[in-house]
Amino acid sequence: MYSEKMINSMAKVAETRKSRIGADPARFTADEKSKLLAIYHPDFKEEAFSVLEVGANKGGKVPNELHDLLQGKSRMLGKEIDLEDVKYTSDVLVIGGGGSGASCALESFAAGCKVTMVTKLRIGDANTMMAEGGIQAADKENDSPAQHYLDAFGGGHFTNKPELLKMLVGDAPGALQWLNNLGVMFDKDENGVMATTAGGGTSRNRMHACADYSGAEIMRVLRDEVKNDGIEVVEFTSAIEILLDEKGNAAGAVLINMETGELMVAKAKCVVLCTGGAGRIHYQDFPTTNHYGATADGLVMAYRAGAELRDADAIQYHPTGVAFPAQMLGALVTEKVRSLGAMLVNVDGEAFMNPLECRDITSASIIRECSDKNKGIETPLGTAVWLDSPMIDMIHGEGTLLKKLPGMLRMYQKMGIDMREDPILIYPTLHYQNGGVDVNADSMSTLVNNLFVAGEAAGGVHGRNRLMGNSLLDVIVFGRNAGKCAAARAKETEMPSKLSIDHINKFDAAVKASGAEYKAVSPMLLPEYTNIKNKGTL
Ligand code: FUM
Repeated sequence: MYSEKMINSMAKVAETRKSRIGADPARFTADEKSKLLAIYHPDFKEEAFSVLEVGANKGGKVPNELHDLLQGKSRMLGKEIDLEDVKYTSDVLVIGGGGSGASCALESFAAGCKVTMVTKLRIGDANTMMAEGGIQAADKENDSPAQHYLDAFGGGHFTNKPELLKMLVGDAPGALQWLNNLGVMFDKDENGVMATTAGGGTSRNRMHACADYSGAEIMRVLRDEVKNDGIEVVEFTSAIEILLDEKGNAAGAVLINMETGELMVAKAKCVVLCTGGAGRIHYQDFPTTNHYGATADGLVMAYRAGAELRDADAIQYHPTGVAFPAQMLGALVTEKVRSLGAMLVNVDGEAFMNPLECRDITSASIIRECSDKNKGIETPLGTAVWLDSPMIDMIHGEGTLLKKLPGMLRMYQKMGIDMREDPILIYPTLHYQNGGVDVNADSMSTLVNNLFVAGEAAGGVHGRNRLMGNSLLDVIVFGRNAGKCAAARAKETEMPSKLSIDHINKFDAAVKASGAEYKAVSPMLLPEYTNIKNKGTL
């Protein structure tokens, strides 16, 4: 399976392995980091971004692909719908069935609200389910939320919204406890004490995990809770536009049945977008770690309804996506592999950087190694560097990799690779949307009342670069926050009497007046290659 060049390089990696055990390569200086990002990080490729002509972020830049969706042709244009023919009525309408949607629904329900959750696939078909490495929480004696704050603020290049970050880190220990009490099986030692590891950019070991199935385990429990509570869940049903009331407040959504294409109306006192990220848009043609549903639908709907976005041009490329074999291209190789000591090594067997730098820096450094430094390893689809996974058992003892990374080990074994014996080839892969809809501390859009946004669809908490394990934490902390705040708001809100989609027509008129042309129908719902029905026409 390996080429001769790969085999020769692998021999060099094996040769230097022993000498690298216990080594701690120097960190980049602040100046080196700035240069690395500016030259090698994909976010700094000017031609990959376009300026928005319409909407609350007019004049701001976003990735080209997102530009075309935000200013895309609404699926409602030219369609007739009777907005008085309401199929679902609820206090809180939750759009999205991943970690933030489930957490939100549970809290709104617990506060006494009638909740409807709609999800374009099945509940749990989301990025949360695919999260591997863990969830951060400062719950050890040598740690504190303040320390967690400093790590995440530095990792985010000091661009995080302070009030949101403070909530993220302050609520983290309670969020962990909530999950633990619901039945999430976190890794613990023989005394029942939570086991923790480090992540890129963390100054303490505060990553809690369930082996390398952290997201799946959390989602398993949340999904059970939603079902046990009897919350109304409408599957294979996607929102395609937010509905507003006469005051311009969010008041429901137009839904589409993903199988039949039937349009339906959902009316609600409050709407919560828990629609996740945008990895399946494949910015700059990168492969992705993301779920098929991650197509930026929430950003599109919120933007057309008048919401402002922030840091929508800040995209996270996970440093270690599978680069070989091609069948697994772009799949996530959890950062936990580096947390456990595996180093990043070039074609000559040299560890070219500290493996626990933040993600944006690490990705930029790998891209430099494979381009200007010409120290990458050729693969059938490009170049890559080694992640020296056999170091893990050498450092921590035989059996560690099997115990801590069973999913990863099995994924490679299926391809005939034993990562305990041989290093693996990796390259950055599209992983996360750092920004999103601008929200306040109640998780409500800063510009559209009664429109709440939680999880990856919201911006601000991570600034321009997120640390590992702060995403699972985000979906729990802010999913719950949005659920509680939307419920409180719903209690003081009348059920809207009149629903409107006038904003869609106004947005359409503004696009036409700007001279911009439609290049896509949006929201996308599923990527083209899934052969989705109801693609819509330009
Ligand atoms: O590497 C990982 O396991 C990913 C974690 C995250 O994005 O938080």
